[in-house]
Amino acid sequence: MKGIILSGGTGSRLMPLTRVTSKQLLPVYNRPMIMYPLEMLLAAGIKDILIIVAPDHAGDYLKLLGSGKEFGARFTYEIQDKPEGLAAAFIIGEQFIGSDNVCMILGDNIFEDDFSKTIKKFKKGAHIFAKQVPDPERFGVVKFDSKMQAVQIEEKPKTFLSKYAITGLYVYDNRVIQAAKLAKPSERGELEITELHNWYLAKHELKVDIVEGEWIDAGTFDTLYRANQIAYRKAHKKQI
Ligand code: DAU
Repeated sequence: MKGIILSGGTGSRLMPLTRVTSKQLLPVYNRPMIMYPLEMLLAAGIKDILIIVAPDHAGDYLKLLGSGKEFGARFTYEIQDKPEGLAAAFIIGEQFIGSDNVCMILGDNIFEDDFSKTIKKFKKGAHIFAKQVPDPERFGVVKFDSKMQAVQIEEKPKTFLSKYAITGLYVYDNRVIQAAKLAKPSERGELEITELHNWYLAKHELKVDIVEGEWIDAGTFDTLYRANQIAYRKAHKKQI
């Protein structure tokens, strides 16, 4: 299993914090944000990790994370010139992935749970993770039937679909590269990860688990603040 941390984008919602640095390098309690998703991949035994970054602060990532040796891993870096969508990661990463399966995590996603067993057990298809949220319209959303089988997935639905947001942790078999190449840019001009999920859903090969603990997409001021609280709680094993 290969790993990808998608850490590009402009971080425009966090201006002016992101004027001189990348969102995923901002501090979350005692570490830069990207260290949290990185730890998730390392905990799952993934040692070959591609870090996709925007051109502006690429050197800072290299300075922070280096070759990976310090972490007992091997890091590869790719520049994403423009934020053309999450699914583009599998086109950028095609050579890196080779013929392996791949686990991708967004560089601004922070999870309380440990997914290492689930990731290690993965064999085929796609495995994604959903969480009930009060503001599902901000995310990719999944609708379940009465047996909690996924039946519909939409990116930022305009009308209510369900309260289950799809989080930024994704595990796919090697066919994800093929699915990404088939994806067409959406209305917002991006290759949407939701298209990949619909590709697997149509083949009845999409598994969706529910996230028990807290999950944060730390892309806004309020969620970044909450991410700090969770990281503090984890570090000190306290309730906040
Ligand atoms: O956080 C989970 C959500 O992430 C999912 O529920 C959605 O299905 C998925 O589309 C995505 O939605 P966002 O609107 O939050 O995506 P955003 O544009 O904020 O990008 C998420 C992260 O990925 C962010 O840290 C920047 C990075 N990114 C984004 C794009 C579009 C890249 O590195 N490259 C890109 O091209």
